[in-house]
Order: sequence, then structure tokens, then C-alpha cells
Amino acid sequence: MKNKKSPVTRLMEYAGGYKWLLILGLALSGVAMILGMAPYVCIWLVVRELVRVSPDWSSAADIAGYGWWAFAFAFGGIIVYFAALMCTHLAAFRTAMNIRKQGIRHLMKAPLGFFDNNASGLLRNRLDGGASETETLLAHNLADIVGTIAMFIAMLVLLFVFDWRMGLACLVAAIISCVAMFSMMGGKNAAIMQEYQESADAISKAGTEYVRGIPVVKVFQQTVYSFKAFKESIENYSAKAEYFTDGICRVPQSVNLTFTEGAFVFVIPVALLLAPSALASGNLAELITNFAFYAAFSAVISTALAKIMFAANGTMLANTALARIDQVMEAPELTVTDHPQVPQDNCVEFVDVSFTYEGADLPALDHVSFLAEPGQTVALVGPSGGGKTTAASLIPRFWDTTEGIVKVGGVDVREINPHVLMDRIAFVFQNNRLFKTSILENVRAARPGAAREEVERALAVSQCEDIIKKLPNGIDTVIGTEGTYLSGGEQQRVALARAVLKAAPIIVLDEATAFADPENEMLIQKALKTLTKNKTVIMIAHRLSAVVGADKILVLDGGKIVQEGIHEELVKEDGLYARMWEDYGKAAQWKISGKGAGADVQ
Ligand SMILES: Nc1ncnc2c1ncn2[C@@H]1O[C@H](COP(=O)(O)OP(=O)(O)OP(=O)(O)O)[C@@H](O)[C@H]1O
Ligand SMILES: [Mg+2]
Repeated sequence: MKNKKSPVTRLMEYAGGYKWLLILGLALSGVAMILGMAPYVCIWLVVRELVRVSPDWSSAADIAGYGWWAFAFAFGGIIVYFAALMCTHLAAFRTAMNIRKQGIRHLMKAPLGFFDNNASGLLRNRLDGGASETETLLAHNLADIVGTIAMFIAMLVLLFVFDWRMGLACLVAAIISCVAMFSMMGGKNAAIMQEYQESADAISKAGTEYVRGIPVVKVFQQTVYSFKAFKESIENYSAKAEYFTDGICRVPQSVNLTFTEGAFVFVIPVALLLAPSALASGNLAELITNFAFYAAFSAVISTALAKIMFAANGTMLANTALARIDQVMEAPELTVTDHPQVPQDNCVEFVDVSFTYEGADLPALDHVSFLAEPGQTVALVGPSGGGKTTAASLIPRFWDTTEGIVKVGGVDVREINPHVLMDRIAFVFQNNRLFKTSILENVRAARPGAAREEVERALAVSQCEDIIKKLPNGIDTVIGTEGTYLSGGEQQRVALARAVLKAAPIIVLDEATAFADPENEMLIQKALKTLTKNKTVIMIAHRLSAVVGADKILVLDGGKIVQEGIHEELVKEDGLYARMWEDYGKAAQWKISGKGAGADVQ
């Protein structure tokens, strides 16, 4: 979806009520610029007076008065400009805040699976970074644009009020410098400028990649190879920068600077041409006065042009920032039903479910149907990539099915209020995230109102007592500080404690013992036994020993259920399960006999 609106219009929409603060700021900025020009008029008045009385300077009228006026205007201009920037900054920060709020609100509606494919760092960067980048446009650039326009109008008036011929000379210089500046930006140069900016982005990406990859690089001794990409991006940038500055900018920039900074030079020949007639008509004094004015005034033109240039740059930046924000705002939304239904019991049923990941050619699940009755344990097994995790993630609506229906308690999960659904399901995944806070708070995340004793009990049930014993502050120890890091198996037990505390009637376990060594595994199995008592359990496991007692085992291969039954039946069938069981038995024996160290079915 491409948004055709200008960045200013779009930011105004995000600004909401703060739009008026912005408009006030912009108006003040215009006033400030006009006040800033008034001192030039004072200069003109001073020079006129001096020329009038020359050479008898002492009889000059109130020159100091004009000086004070000039000072007052300049000072007033600064104060008003300050007020203008206060308004625009406030509006800019509030708008950025609105953008962040809207973005977060939108992300809350996205399906959880979306966050698997979009790293949190990337999303944060897009939303937070993008919002900050819009601040410059609203806080500074827009005020400068409006100020410059006001200045231009005032300038045009002044240019022609005193002597239009000299005014025209100043304007010609301004126009030449403008043309030079725009020739630098337009046509094929725009594409080159874009390439130049992209090459600068590429350096920062390659740099991040290089630093992130250092551990892998060291392990695999690939220093030269990995440094190559970083080095190439730097070389590419320097080539682009050289071409851009030398090949494209050199001439137009020189012309631009010459004509903005040296505009007064243009006034000299005009003044010389006008001098004879002025002398003849006795108006020489006025000519000199006007000349002095234009010579001083031409300096304002360069300031105005420089501001336009920065402002144009700000609009470009805001555009790219908004494009990044759009990527967040375009995240898919999970539909929420208007007429929610309440699940009747705690069964989980798949009715002819197919699911294809976005952009994938083959379905990850292909017409899968099964029923887990309340209190039953259904195990999903099968080769890697078979679709087990995908099936599990459809139950809490990490994704919605492409075809078919997932039912909880006899109701389509899309017809259930998402909060009700989430309350009913607890999950333990392979990569459980622990927050950088105390163990207590980490577990309490599952049920924020839980008392300390309840958390302690959940930790005990999950066999976490040995972990807590060795931590300096027990369950109040903040994970990730002072060298208190938990191993994969330990993290998994803390995650189990969360599920225990949540006490949801439906439990989804994806590789809950994946990280565990034999000792850990025993503890985890023990914890699982307590956790899953009288619950509906959907369990995924590679270690087949974990699924032997399941009420139903589904063998998933290539997204399809290829076998279904209980362990005793399946081992007798000539099929995938029997082969997997045989392999598992061999591996277990290897471990016992100590042969083939490290061989483990993973
Ligand atoms: N987020 C994703 N985006 C796109 N494709 C995905 C995504 N997650 C999984 N897939 C694909 O879907 C298929 C099934 O993956 P799934 O993770 O469900 O397998 P699995 O049975 O859990 O495997 P494993 O035992 O290795 O965990 C695979 O082909 C995988 O490449
Ligand atoms: Mg998986």
C-alpha cells in the first residue's frame, strides 16, 4: 500500500489536536522572520540620514534611535522565534508520541506469529526510530519553510520598494543560485543521490552484521572473509561519495555559493549604470543609500536559500521515516469477533485444517483433523519440519488457519474473545523468553495478581528449588545481572512454573524437554506430570519416551497426519513411528553403553 499524501499532511493526521500548536508555531516563525528583516530597513534609514547630512555628521537626526529600533526588532525576532520553536518542538514530540502509541496499539492486535517473522528489535527500530526522525521535520524544517516563505515575500516587497533595478539584480543572483541548486537534485542526479544514501545505509548494516557475527567468525576462523563485506561496503560508499561530490555537486555547488554569498557584486554594475542619471537629477544621495541597503541585504538571501535546502532534506527524511512507520502500521490484524461465544469444555479439535505461511509454496499443514477430548494428552511427533509447531501455534491463534477450523471447547477459536482464549491456554515453548527482572516477576507474568506464596509453590512444583537455592537473592534475584544467567534447561523449568501458576485447563507443550540433559529431563518430566494432571494437553516431543503414555499419538510428516493411535498400536504397525521408535531405542542404548558419545535423538 503506497500512501500518496505528503509527509506534512500525514504528520498532521498523527498530530491530532496538537496540529493547532504546530500551526501557531509556524505562524510565529513567519512573524519572527519578518521582524528579523526590519533591522535592514533601519539600516536604510540610518544611511539615508547620514547621506543627507554629509559631510556634517554631527547634525544627523536620531541615528542612535534607529540603532535601538534595529536592536529591538532583532531581539524581538529572536524571542518570537524561540516561542515558535517551543510550540513546534512540543507539537513534534507529541506527534512522535502519538505515532508510537498508535503503532504499539496496532501491534497489540497483530497475531503473535507475526513477531516470529519480525524481530522485535527491527520493529522497535522502525517505530521508535521512525517516530524520532519525523521530529526534525515538524520541530525545525517546517518552521524554517514557513519562515523562509514569509521572508521571501517580505524580501520581494523590500527588493522593489527602494529601487527595483537593484532589487532585480539581487533577485537574478538568487534565481541563478536556485537553479544551480535544483539542477543538483533533479533528473538522473536524484537516482545517484539515492544510491549514495543507500551506500551509507549499507555501511551501517554491514557494520552491525560484522559486530554481531564476531562470535561465529571467531569460532570458524573466518576473519578475512567476514571483514570483506564490511570493507566492500566502505569502499563502495567512498566511490559513491567521490562521484557524488566531485562529479555532481562540484559545479552547481560552486555556482550556488558564489551567487548567494556574492549577490551584492551584481548590484555594483547596476549602481554604476544608474549613477550618471542620478547625478544629473540630483538623486545621487538616494542612490548611495539604496546601494548600501542592497549590499547589506543581499546577505539575507543566502540564509534563506540555505534554509530551503535543509527543509527539502527534512521532507525527504520524513518521507523515509513514514515509510518505515507504515511497515509497522501495516502489520496484519487479528480479527476480533463482535459476538463472542464461550467454549463449552476444554476439548481441542482440528477440523480439516490447512495452513500455508505467507510467501511459502507448500502448505505447512495439509488437511489435518483430530480431536483431543477434555483431560486427554495428544502427542504430535514426526520429522523436523513436519508441521508440529505450526499445528500447536494455531490453537492460541498465533496464526489463523488458511482453511478449516480450529475449535476449543466446541467453538471456532475465531469466535472466542481473545482474552478468554488466552486464559484457557498455557504454553511452554522451546525458546522461552525470560524478562530481565526477578524470577518472582518472571513467573508472575503468567498471572499478575498471584501472591508470593503461590509463585513459590509453582516454582517448587516445577522442580526449580535447586536453581533458586544457588541464586544470591533467591526468587528476587534479577536474571541477567551479576552473572546470574540460567541455562536452557533451567529457563525451561522457570517457564514451566509460569504454566503451573497460570493453571489453565489446556496446555500446549512444544519441546518442553528440548534443552534438558538426562538429569534435567527427569526433573522436567516430574514437573510435567503434576502440571498436566487432569488437563487437556497437546504435547510435542522428539524424545519418544515422553509420549509413550499419551492417549493419542499423531505422526505428522510433510504437514499431513500419516499415522494415528496409541504407542502400543503404532510400534506394531509398519510405518514411520515404528522406525522412529527403533532409532530412538538405539540412541538410548548408545547413551547407556557410552558408545558414540553425545549421540542423542534431537
Ligand atoms: N514462521 C515461518 N514462516 C514461514 N515458514 C515457516 C515458519 N515456521 C515454520 N515454517 C515452515 O513450515 C514447515 C513446518 O514447520 P514447523 O516448525 O511446524 O515444523 P516442526 O514439525 O515443528 O519441526 P521441528 O521438529 O524441527 O520443530 C517447515 O517447512 C518450515 O520451513
Ligand atoms: Mg517445532
